[in-house]
Amino acid sequence: MPESRCMQGIWSSPWLFILAASGSAVGLGNIWKFPYMVGENGGGAFLFVYLLCLLLVGLPVLIAEVALGRSVRSNPIDTINDLHERHIVTKGWVFVPYLAGLAGFLILSFYSVIAGWALAFFERSLKGVFKGVTKDETQGIFSTLVGTPTEMLAWHSVFVLLVILCVGQSVTRGLAMLVKILLPVLIVMLFGLSIYSSIVGDFDKTVSFLFSWNWNQITPDVVLAAVGHAFFSLSIGMGGMFAYAAYMSKHMSIARACTIVVGVDTLVAILAGLVVLPLVFSLNIDVDTGPSLTFVSLPVAFGRLPGGLFVGAIFFLLLILAALTSAISMLELFVSWLHERFYVSRLKAAFGLGVGVWLLGFISLLSLNEWKDIHIFGFIIFDFLDKFTSLILLPMIALLLSVLVALRIPRNMLENELITRNPKHFKWWYNVLKFCSIPIMVVITVGGWIGV
Ligand code: PFF
Repeated sequence: MPESRCMQGIWSSPWLFILAASGSAVGLGNIWKFPYMVGENGGGAFLFVYLLCLLLVGLPVLIAEVALGRSVRSNPIDTINDLHERHIVTKGWVFVPYLAGLAGFLILSFYSVIAGWALAFFERSLKGVFKGVTKDETQGIFSTLVGTPTEMLAWHSVFVLLVILCVGQSVTRGLAMLVKILLPVLIVMLFGLSIYSSIVGDFDKTVSFLFSWNWNQITPDVVLAAVGHAFFSLSIGMGGMFAYAAYMSKHMSIARACTIVVGVDTLVAILAGLVVLPLVFSLNIDVDTGPSLTFVSLPVAFGRLPGGLFVGAIFFLLLILAALTSAISMLELFVSWLHERFYVSRLKAAFGLGVGVWLLGFISLLSLNEWKDIHIFGFIIFDFLDKFTSLILLPMIALLLSVLVALRIPRNMLENELITRNPKHFKWWYNVLKFCSIPIMVVITVGGWIGV
């Protein structure tokens, strides 16, 4: 088993894992979701809890997932089967990676609908629709799009097709190269746009909104939202990182690689907040508007900026590519498993799964308009999928994977994998995972079941 992944190839440079993992982490979650989550959950209070979650739960759990993936060098399903055959874990654990694959599948179904919005906005930027638009006009453009199932279906289909074609290739080939160009360009662009937003928008209000809070704003709902978003944003609990880690070079320090991924992901999210929120405040858009926030506020800025239509088109293109590199990792678990276990070609596996994703996405996009009266636990299907995956499924799978690593896998196996120059680092990580991350996740998972 150990080097079975050579079929697929090990990342040719240790940095390629970091690039691919960052590509999975950085996506719509950072640019579309983070600004509106901050807006809906009280600003600084959410940011504070979110950063704490990244440190106390996100990073330790990501390290655990990556260590597990690299130790056996196979897809997550075969990895756990292998541990079961070696009597390290009982039969029940074998189901955990299937749950992780299911989470990726469910998330991709609505994620591709949102990526479809980015495609639609890209097309409108190219056509110059945003020239001189007001907030009310962009609100109208957004509502018309969300109210037109045929157009959303067309863009959703284009995105799913792109995902199928990309996942159908071996991931070690093109993905890291794409991310290598995409990430620096995206970061520079967000940086530039944040400077522009701070000049034309309400920067002072943004800073006080983002960086100050009252302790009584930190409610259980805010904590639940922050933890759920930390899992979503770091792509933890869906097996994507686990699957990528199997291609990772043994010479790379897992702790260092994961710290860089968390750092890049956080940087992009905060930059996106600094781009969107000053505009939101200066345009008098309600900060707790929800999912439309980024799509309503940014086009107004692009419409006024000199050369803004071009900048807007590039921005939406980068957003689509960032969404694509994230989406690829959502299907990777099942695709690599079908390919390695049953010798199904990657393209066929991706196509089969893609059809399922497309269908479920179709249902969730209908729930935004024609089927908006159908509710599951009080939510339309689109929101239910989002809440169910972020608040219940991901924390639960991450908890199970962490328990597996901290309490079931022999400590010496982990020590070999996570060897660092300073043995104290291993102890810190192990103790934080065991005594901090796991208890927090237990509370969150129970809270998620009660709250949703
Ligand atoms: N981390 C991605 C984002 O922030 O957009 C979302 C994501 C990627 C979720 C991969 C799940 C996953 F497996």
